Amino acid sequence: MNRLVFIIIASVMAGFSTVAVAAGDAAAGQAKAQTCVACHGADGNSANVGFPSLAGQVPGYIGAQLALFKSGQRANPIMMGMTQSLSAADMADLDAWYASKTITPRAIGDDQLALAHEGEALYRGGSAQLAIPACMACHGPAGHGIPSTNPRVAGQWPEYLETQLLVFKSGERASKIMGPIAHRLSTHQINALSLYMSALQ
Ligand code: HEC
Ligand code: HEC
Repeated sequence: MNRLVFIIIASVMAGFSTVAVAAGDAAAGQAKAQTCVACHGADGNSANVGFPSLAGQVPGYIGAQLALFKSGQRANPIMMGMTQSLSAADMADLDAWYASKTITPRAIGDDQLALAHEGEALYRGGSAQLAIPACMACHGPAGHGIPSTNPRVAGQWPEYLETQLLVFKSGERASKIMGPIAHRLSTHQINALSLYMSALQ
């Protein structure tokens, strides 16, 4: 009886320590993120349109993307180079660090409101006619994403969102979920959606 209780406690504790490693350590992640600052910003808010912001991303997503870059399944010359020396623990720590930061909201100009409204309609309601699901179902009504697999889109550079939808559409970035959805979106719809998502708060 006592032995059985001991085994149960031991396996529960082993389970906890596995979870702790997978969840990562944000402070350790901050130290490991020094090589990322030049492109992704000191706190994960990128000041350069060419590089995505990472702050406030859903826990689990950044670690998963780093592993995909390392294996080359997500092909990007810069990020494939950056990830070669990262261990699974490094990726978990970096994930925890960026997930703990806050993304700076983004505003859009008055001249862009009409286009953003087109994006809003698709984001919130999809299109039955075009067989496009509401993006909101998976990325959240405010674009905050759903841990651990569905990324935050709110506050991101619109140019980055647009590029990703285009590479999902072309198949260059493989995704069983986003591939077929992006395939059915026109470049105009992609432009409108990217603008709208970037301004979600
Ligand atoms: C020289 C610039 C540069 C450096 C340094 C850099 N990155 Fe990147 N990173 C990029 C670019 C460019 C992309 C966009 C890749 C694409 O289009 O697929 C990117 C994309 C990413 C993504 C994917 C984001 C998403 O929303 O899918 C993650 C995660 C990431 N970087 C993490 C890191 C981490 C962690 C480091 C440091 C270990 C780092 N990067 C260092 C340029 C850089
Ligand atoms: C069924 C769930 C689902 C729906 C619906 C969905 N997405 Fe996604 N989206 C995902 C997942 C999951 C990913 C991460 C890529 C992967 O794992 O395949 C993603 C990735 C993305 C990315 C890349 C973000 C980044 O940081 O790299 C963008 C942009 C995006 N989706 C936009 C949209 C838009 C616009 C719509 C609506 C037209 C939409 N998504 C509908 C689940 C969904």
